Amino acid sequence: MSDLVRFSVSLEADLLEEFEKYCHERSIATRSEAIRQLIHGALTEDAWSRGAEHAVATLTIVYDHHRPGMMEQLTEVQHGRTDMVVSTMHVHLDHHNCLEIIVLRGKAIDLSDLASRLRGIKGVRCGDLVVAHAPAPDAG
Ligand code: NI
Repeated sequence: MSDLVRFSVSLEADLLEEFEKYCHERSIATRSEAIRQLIHGALTEDAWSRGAEHAVATLTIVYDHHRPGMMEQLTEVQHGRTDMVVSTMHVHLDHHNCLEIIVLRGKAIDLSDLASRLRGIKGVRCGDLVVAHAPAPDAG
């Protein structure tokens, strides 16, 4: 971690009040921590949209496993990209529905494409891709 730097921020009183509420509702210990998280989120989103070389993400999908052919398709697409699919967790939600969390790693643009392909399989009901900041491999 690099050195901590202090800086001051000027903002309207009502905006600060809303921000305090935001921190309280999320049980965020300090304003600094909240601002750190928000900046981090904004930078991650920015890097993602600019096509980060090293990104990690989770894709959460829900589907009905009884739908003919869809399990095969889901497996086939993932086996086709073992360079990006790090791990998969499968949860049997009920008689019909399965939830799968797929951990992905690679170029942002490729992860986005793969997520679109998986989401596009008939029977997949929703697919939320969540991107996390990833350091470059072996960056220390
Ligand atoms: Ni299942």
